[in-house]
Amino acid sequence: MPIAAQTFETQRSEIAGFKIADIVKNYGTPAYVYDMAKIEERVRDLSAFDVVRYAQKACSNIAILDRLRRLGVVVDAVSAGEVKRAIAAGFNPKADPHCIVFTADVFDHEALSVVKEYGLHVNCGSPDMIQQLGKAIPGSSVTLRINPGFGHGHSQKTNTGGPQSKHGIWHEDVVECLRMADLHNVIVTGLHMHIGSGTDLEHLSQVCESLEKIALQVGRTLTTISAGGGLPVPYRQGQTYVDLDQYYSLWDATRKRLEASFGHPLSLEIEPGRYLVAESGFLIAEIRAIKKMGENMFYLLDAGFNDLARPILYGAYHPISIAHRDGRISKQTADVVVGGPLCESGDIFTQEEGGFVAKRELPVASVGDYLILEVAGAYGFVMASNYNGRYRVPEVLLENGSMHCIRARETFDDLIRGETIPPVH
Ligand code: LLP
Repeated sequence: MPIAAQTFETQRSEIAGFKIADIVKNYGTPAYVYDMAKIEERVRDLSAFDVVRYAQKACSNIAILDRLRRLGVVVDAVSAGEVKRAIAAGFNPKADPHCIVFTADVFDHEALSVVKEYGLHVNCGSPDMIQQLGKAIPGSSVTLRINPGFGHGHSQKTNTGGPQSKHGIWHEDVVECLRMADLHNVIVTGLHMHIGSGTDLEHLSQVCESLEKIALQVGRTLTTISAGGGLPVPYRQGQTYVDLDQYYSLWDATRKRLEASFGHPLSLEIEPGRYLVAESGFLIAEIRAIKKMGENMFYLLDAGFNDLARPILYGAYHPISIAHRDGRISKQTADVVVGGPLCESGDIFTQEEGGFVAKRELPVASVGDYLILEVAGAYGFVMASNYNGRYRVPEVLLENGSMHCIRARETFDDLIRGETIPPVH
């Protein structure tokens, strides 16, 4: 069933049934909140796939990982830290060796030792990884991440295929990699392609065709194929979801043709990050100053690009709403620029790719009102930093009528943890 288009309102008083004023009273601003019901809904959308493997880089709080695990979702990890996060959230690779797959283009030393310690399955994005894994753990079975020679993403920076991308094993090198795998006592049991983040059905569909060709080169050792991630979500009014039935049918047909050719079943995985968590997340900030600069009116917040980096990095558009502190509804609107507190002119949430400042029509607001950056659950908190000496903000889970703080606001001690002043001689 196609998913109904979203409408984004520019005024709201609650999130998932919780009054914004109550959330702010408990946790202050800025704060990230996640609506668990939305995450559950998005997991259910993908139930046709045999395996939903969450790309935890999108939002890796261990409470979110725990809840996804309870919903039957497994995870992808791209670093030793992400492997350990998954384990802290209850994933147990000793009981289910495929519940965490390590996907990368390089092994750093800690990652290789964590893979060895927990016996993790590895998705190799470079020929060197095959050799290094074979030496460290002879007899390993691996997945190969293939760069099919083309890619697509919502921004050139999230396109992960084609010759300009550093990701994956180049599609023409597969036969050579199979030889290398034989030589290093490694068995290729999986094939994976991820061409970019926030792409569209047309580009995603081309991946099936490409993967099928490569799968036939790899042959009967294959037991798993992965469609990768990349499923988009609407960030603007009018943007639609990918038709998931159509998408699944394309992959299922590819899988069935390969099963017929190999004479054994193949498991079909999908590896979404954004799709599962983006719409669940909101960054609540307070408007702390309103000023006019020539023809531009600025709403300046207590949240900056250190809290949500997507606009400055990609010119990404996030829907914005206002919640008046006293709960009133404002009838008047104004075209405004929304910025943060950082000592840097790029600290603007309403910017386009290339850094061009844009205006947004928003309700007329006052200092002390709340401004909510929406669809911020994916690549939001995880890309936050301490730039300008700012504490990273709390994360709050809204679930079954309760609010849970799943990460405390940082303090000054967190800010300087690990720093020391050497003695002066
Ligand atoms: N699998 C692999 C191997 C990936 O590299 C990624 C994302 C995913 C899955 C999940 O992709 P998704 O379903 O979320 O599109 N920071 C950027 C996105 C970077 C994506 C990196 N890789 C942003 O804010 O848009």
